Amino acid sequence: MKSTEIRAKFLKFFESKGHTLVRSSPLIPGNDPTMLLTNSGMVQFKDVFLGTDQRAYSRATSVQRCVRAGGKHNDLENVGYTARHHTFFEMLGNFSFGDYFKRDAIQYAWELLTKVYLLPPEKLWVTVYHEDNEAHDIWANEIGVPLERIIRIGDNKGARYASDNFWQMADTGPCGPCSEIFYDHGPDVWGGPPGSAEQDGDRYIEIWNLVFMQFNRDEQGNMPLLPKPCVDTGMGLERLAAILQHVHSNYEIDLFQNLIKAAARETRTTDLNDNSLKVIADHIRACSFLIVDGIIPGSEGHGYVLRRIIRRALRHGHKLGQTQPFFYKLVQDLVIEMGAAYPELTDAAARVEQVLKQEEERFGETLEHGMKILEVALASSPHQLDGQTAFTLYDTYGFPLDLTADICRERKVDLDEAGFNTAMERQRTTARAAGKFKMAAAVEYSGDKTRFVGYDLLDQAARVIALYVDGVAVQRVGAGQDAIVVLDVTPFYAESGGQVGDNGVLRAGGMEFNVVDTLKIQSEVFGHHGTLVSGVLAVGDTLTASVDAMARGRTIRNHSATHLMHKALREVLGAHVSQKGSLVDADKTRFDFSHNGPLSADEIRQVEVIVNREILANIATEAKVMAYDDAVKYGAMALFGEKYGDEVRVLGIGSSKELCGGVHVTRTGDIGLFKMTAESGVAAGIRRVEAVTGEGALALVQALSQRVSEAAALLKAPSEELTPRIVQVQEQVRSLEKELSVLKSKLAASQGDDLLDQAVDVNGIKVLAARMEGADVAALRATMDKLKDKLKTAAIVLAAVNDGKVSLIAGVTADTTGRIKAGELVNFVALQVGGKGGGRPDMAQAGGTDPSGLAAALQAVAGWVDAKA
Ligand code: ALA
Repeated sequence: MKSTEIRAKFLKFFESKGHTLVRSSPLIPGNDPTMLLTNSGMVQFKDVFLGTDQRAYSRATSVQRCVRAGGKHNDLENVGYTARHHTFFEMLGNFSFGDYFKRDAIQYAWELLTKVYLLPPEKLWVTVYHEDNEAHDIWANEIGVPLERIIRIGDNKGARYASDNFWQMADTGPCGPCSEIFYDHGPDVWGGPPGSAEQDGDRYIEIWNLVFMQFNRDEQGNMPLLPKPCVDTGMGLERLAAILQHVHSNYEIDLFQNLIKAAARETRTTDLNDNSLKVIADHIRACSFLIVDGIIPGSEGHGYVLRRIIRRALRHGHKLGQTQPFFYKLVQDLVIEMGAAYPELTDAAARVEQVLKQEEERFGETLEHGMKILEVALASSPHQLDGQTAFTLYDTYGFPLDLTADICRERKVDLDEAGFNTAMERQRTTARAAGKFKMAAAVEYSGDKTRFVGYDLLDQAARVIALYVDGVAVQRVGAGQDAIVVLDVTPFYAESGGQVGDNGVLRAGGMEFNVVDTLKIQSEVFGHHGTLVSGVLAVGDTLTASVDAMARGRTIRNHSATHLMHKALREVLGAHVSQKGSLVDADKTRFDFSHNGPLSADEIRQVEVIVNREILANIATEAKVMAYDDAVKYGAMALFGEKYGDEVRVLGIGSSKELCGGVHVTRTGDIGLFKMTAESGVAAGIRRVEAVTGEGALALVQALSQRVSEAAALLKAPSEELTPRIVQVQEQVRSLEKELSVLKSKLAASQGDDLLDQAVDVNGIKVLAARMEGADVAALRATMDKLKDKLKTAAIVLAAVNDGKVSLIAGVTADTTGRIKAGELVNFVALQVGGKGGGRPDMAQAGGTDPSGLAAALQAVAGWVDAKA
């Protein structure tokens, strides 16, 4: 049975049992910080299980695309080594939201497997959670599975509910005991039934997991009951297909066969059983769908999951001898295999190829170099790869640790992970000490940290604790000098999290130091950078530090609006939107985020409406410091690429919640007005928007309105009638152009008649060379035809000058082309007006850029003809 049919039969069966068909959700779970990637069918229904989301149905069925390559469920390292692990797979599932429970779930599963898919009942084994007598009795008494094939599985992982038969989506969230159905691949395959010592063999394979969702595990491990008991089931399409297609390994099913062949084609591999081909075939599925769902390779979060999988695939290609980009070429093969089931894949194919190709090009060279480093290290130490080398591979050559681990595993070499971690930590410390910050490069500071009071204050008395000029510590600074000032306490915000540093002034008596920027010279030490305008500034001095309140006010309006905009973009475009970078200063906010195509005018309008609605609601900002884990639980959006400590600051602005150390408005109303000003693409899959607020928005609106007024005045129309007036003017222009063209033709025709008289006889040929005022090329041609008709035996050149450009046309009557060629004639004239020309013997055209030579050129025509004929 083909995979397509397996999917269709599953859905049809559950639809016939009153389930609503729900489409696969994307691989990035919507607004769920507890979960990196969709790892099973239930993820899109999490809130329905929890009772916080209501649906119009209480039964659902889906075929969900899943990736298990990070987080609680991670199979990446097993891919290529077992018959049934994948990074990407499809999960067939049926769900009950407080509707049916164990009995129906078990009965449906049994009926589908034995009556629809026609699996022999004697090949099926089941497990139940050891305390679950209810499920045990249903299997034994209602279904009639012999007792020896119903196995109770206990808490085999050390704690209550830590069991293979207790399923949870992540460390927190819905969970419950489960009952699993296994298929016996027969005595030819090694392995024992679940719970036995040989259970890890491939003989008894779990195909379907029926989870009886009952609890919601929280951070502390408490397990309150869900509002209603629910059912969540999941059956791996690939495993079921292996059984129904009578093969043992998932990689032998239809969905994989062509991909493996394609991988062999692109790597020029003849042995189709090579495990690297399976890895590549698996990884092209995961990578393509991750990109379809808006992820691009990066160094954090989702982007890094994708990068790791791509690079692992490329390494396997390299192992097969392929050193050129090849992986992206498999996208078309995947489209053939899965495009019908997932039209979004077909739609995004070109972009997927482009993203993959870019990453292949980026990694190709370093892969080659890195492999050489690795070979050298292994040649001198064949049993263990030291942590420093693994770190160098990671840091300099872009080898994700699991890629290196994969190579080590393959070669049966130990990887010193502890050494890797030490090397990583060492580098972090050095980086911190060296200061990644612009001006800190040369500043060595070992004093106290700066106390930042700028969340509440703009003016603060402070003491100078260090001064630097050109990166060197000094005791005093004289007027006119450029310096960095470190204070014990400051209201100045130092650039971070996308918000620029404050500017302002430090004052004491006659001393005035103009701060142009504030930056961190160490993670908690702020440097005020600027120039001493007057007086003297010395270490130990006390002064008043005053932030430029206007600039700060504008900046924080833009910053708070950025949070609201981020949230609104997710609302309007989807949960795949995640921040990729931001810059907030006094003039604007610039925000980069993952999204596939340009935003439509309507989407921009919607975002503006949502943000301004939040502003008008004038909600008080809430800033709370809490444990990172609590913040995530609280629903705060953590941003990729940001490193957070254990304690984080959660900013609630309007309905948005984000982890942020920046300075913000007190109430959303302070933002005033929000208006987006630009939208563009910055890289594949990344868009950039810009927006203004407050005074900036007012200035924009005023400028726009002035432009409209000016236009209205010029068009002599009230501004509200501008558009119809423009349409009217355009129509007028069009009709005038038409009239003009008619007139030109008429004029040309009448000129044509006048011109007849100017023709002179040269050796029996009527020669005419004339300039026609106001004619265009069409008029020249029309006149030419007429003149040829009338003059009978003739050689004619007509010229017109428009906008400084010369148009030329030469015509020779058919009886004369033996003596004079129009092409040569036009070229003769063209050469004298800065052009060149040629063409047919009877008609040729040319242009020139220098009208000053035209008159003489035309005069010379008769002589030229005379010489020729
Ligand atoms: N959510 C359950 C699983 O993934 C069905 O096994």
